Amino acid sequence: MSTFWSTYISVLTLGSLIGLTWLLLSTRKGQSDTTDQTMGHSFDGIEEYDNPLPKWWFWLFVGTLVFAVGYLILYPGLGNWKGVLPGYEDGWTGVNEWQKEMDKADATFGPLFAKYAAMPLEEVAKDPQALRMGGRLFASNCSVCHGSDAKGAYGFPNLTDQHWRWGGDAQTIKQSIMDGRHGVMPAWSEVIGEQGVADVSAYIVTGLNHRTLPDTATADASKGQAIFAANCVACHGPEGKGTPLLGAPDLTVAQAFIYGSSFAQLQQTIRYGRQGQMPAQRDIQGNDKVHLLAAYVYSLSQPEVPETTTAR
Ligand code: HEC
Ligand code: HEC
Repeated sequence: MSTFWSTYISVLTLGSLIGLTWLLLSTRKGQSDTTDQTMGHSFDGIEEYDNPLPKWWFWLFVGTLVFAVGYLILYPGLGNWKGVLPGYEDGWTGVNEWQKEMDKADATFGPLFAKYAAMPLEEVAKDPQALRMGGRLFASNCSVCHGSDAKGAYGFPNLTDQHWRWGGDAQTIKQSIMDGRHGVMPAWSEVIGEQGVADVSAYIVTGLNHRTLPDTATADASKGQAIFAANCVACHGPEGKGTPLLGAPDLTVAQAFIYGSSFAQLQQTIRYGRQGQMPAQRDIQGNDKVHLLAAYVYSLSQPEVPETTTAR
């Protein structure tokens, strides 16, 4: 912090404390007993007694002021002042405390993590203790997006089913988590036009998903099929079954669409494109934790999950 801001904060803080002390003492009335004298003003017939502050309240206020001063001496709070809390040469900081906790946890759990990291993922995925650890890591790092049951949400894929965008074998799952993923679905409105967007959406609904279009739809699915063959198969494959290398999803399974499968939602996706991003965990979690996470995620889509892991 620059000297200016350090001084600014110190002056502001100490000034407030001094000002409050002055306010408290200057408005304190000498009389100690309650009276029935009023302040002499009346608002809509409501008058105010001229009584001193209740003692308990006064002393509570004094207590908070003393606490504030004590706190500011011990802990860093006044600009660059580091505090004099015993046992902290560089002053107490939340970051250091957190780091200490983490170091302690690493010392305790590090060997356990390392043990699992040396085992093949498929084996870790059968170990109840590893799965409990993986489940906790998932709850704190992944559930915001993928849901606490890992079943996904709008824009975030379900990790418990058999429909994978990038691949569902244990190694590929680990890679998805380790290095993240970025699915790039181009925008098509300029290329195939608004009618083309409707037509190809109609083809997905009727041709690939075997569902029916809403009555109001004005689209030609057979034209859509030709558009699909010309523009989409490069990524989604000749039968629309997807290309895991590109993260291009299987378009034949409507319930696995993360951006919605209605005729309107499909048009929205195709018109403007999509850019799903899975954040890389390599630098955040490190290999050993990602290993546990991958084993946990892998276990979710395996049929023979041991019983202990179903209760999360
Ligand atoms: C900020 C939101 C977010 C967080 C946090 C997040 N993910 Fe993801 N994840 C995504 C998105 C979005 C995708 C889909 C990427 C795409 O469009 O291809 C994805 C994809 C994946 C995939 C690939 C799925 C497939 O079908 O191939 C796996 C595996 C995965 N995430 C696991 C995890 C794990 C484990 C964590 C916790 C460490 C996690 N994710 C945290 C958003 C997130
Ligand atoms: C360059 C490769 C590429 C091409 C070409 C491409 N797509 Fe995609 N498409 C993707 C990828 C990658 C995703 C996943 C985007 C994401 O996860 O955010 C995707 C997603 C989609 C989705 C959303 C699926 C869901 O989960 O909600 C639809 C629908 C779709 N594409 C239709 C089409 C159609 C129709 C065409 C041709 C007009 C097309 N795509 C051409 C790569 C492509």
